[in-house]
Amino acid sequence: MADQALIDTLNDLRSRELAVCMQYMRHHYLVTGPEGLALAGEFKEVAITEMKHAEELAERIDFLGGDPTSKPAPFPTAATTLSEMAETDLASEEEAVELYRAAIKQADEAGDVTTRRLLESILGDEEDHVDTFQRMLGK
Ligand SMILES: [Fe+2]
Ligand SMILES: [Fe+2]
Repeated sequence: MADQALIDTLNDLRSRELAVCMQYMRHHYLVTGPEGLALAGEFKEVAITEMKHAEELAERIDFLGGDPTSKPAPFPTAATTLSEMAETDLASEEEAVELYRAAIKQADEAGDVTTRRLLESILGDEEDHVDTFQRMLGK
């Protein structure tokens, strides 16, 4: 019997992945200026990785007998400059790292090794994304 609390956590993470996918795609379309255009591809690349995360989570939720949500979490749409976009996205990624760390602990406590492994693999990508946006900001 799958752990309902763990399925709920995976669905919350999926909702968030769907949201950041749209957030970063928005930044890919809207970024302007020579510096922005040079970095537009990075926003797109990260957005596509987030879409893959959303799909991997859906497959796992389905396997566990849950219903994968198609509802994105709310996401910020105010950023207009490159640095505002990168700051917003860095904050989203730092939050993702915290949420995945907590979910890994939860999967571990539920004794679900496969879910834990999936979450660990996604966490590695989120740490890379923190690095991507920090570099964009010259941090
Ligand atoms: Fe992600
Ligand atoms: Fe990410």
